[in-house]
Amino acid sequence: MASTNYQVGILGATGAVGQTFIRLLSDHPWFTVTEVVASERSAGLPYRKAANWLSGDPIPDEIADRAVKPTEPAALDCDFVFSALSSSVAGEVEADFAEAGFPVVSNAKNHRLHEDVPLLIPEVNPDHIALIDQQDWGSEGYVVTNPNCSTVGLVCGLRPLMEAFTVEAVQVTMLQATARRRRWPPNRERFLVRFTTNRSTGRTFP
Ligand SMILES: NC(=O)c1ccc[n+]([C@@H]2O[C@H](COP(=O)([O-])OP(=O)(O)OC[C@H]3O[C@@H](n4cnc5c(N)ncnc54)[C@H](OP(=O)(O)O)[C@@H]3O)[C@@H](O)[C@H]2O)c1
Repeated sequence: MASTNYQVGILGATGAVGQTFIRLLSDHPWFTVTEVVASERSAGLPYRKAANWLSGDPIPDEIADRAVKPTEPAALDCDFVFSALSSSVAGEVEADFAEAGFPVVSNAKNHRLHEDVPLLIPEVNPDHIALIDQQDWGSEGYVVTNPNCSTVGLVCGLRPLMEAFTVEAVQVTMLQATARRRRWPPNRERFLVRFTTNRSTGRTFP
């Protein structure tokens, strides 16, 4: 991948997260979405018919009439894939793509806890990308994941604080709803975070 105009495929392109990829990558200076990929329910349909488009903005013109591809490595022509697959299938499918030689950058949870898979937030731990050298899919493929969405925002805020303070614990309450199948009451997650000693002044924070 020597150029900076990468051709990318979106796995799970019809779902809520896949749609976000499509919105964010439209007119992107580095990436061109060349493949939209989903389940056999959607394969063969024009994207605008397969996706229940959630955004107020229209589907980008270059995507709306593109035929959705089946989730098969041999069917795709692109440099790498972003995965927005349902976690019910992401583990096996992402492994298939890595074995077929694709770099896979995933939003799904399935590979997050593998020792040789980076759980990457570029602003926080870019050096963890080196872990991909330890992966062996029998090809040039590899898998990179990101953390749960609530964790990403949290640690981006914590990172600079950790440089200035000793973080002993963190207390956070997350109230989450799902994008596609709205759920109420929302999922609730609690984390414990406590900031205490400022290394330079010795002040203690509650
Ligand atoms: N890290 C984060 O920030 C973050 C945030 C939210 C969600 N997520 C994760 O992102 C993923 C997608 O979430 P979502 O809310 O977008 O889900 P979703 O709306 O249900 O979309 C799921 C996608 O997976 C496809 N799919 C389902 N079964 C398949 C199969 N057997 N073969 C191939 N494709 C299949 C669906 O295609 P069809 O439309 O054809 O069925 C659809 O495109 C999940 O793993 C979720 O946990 C991550």
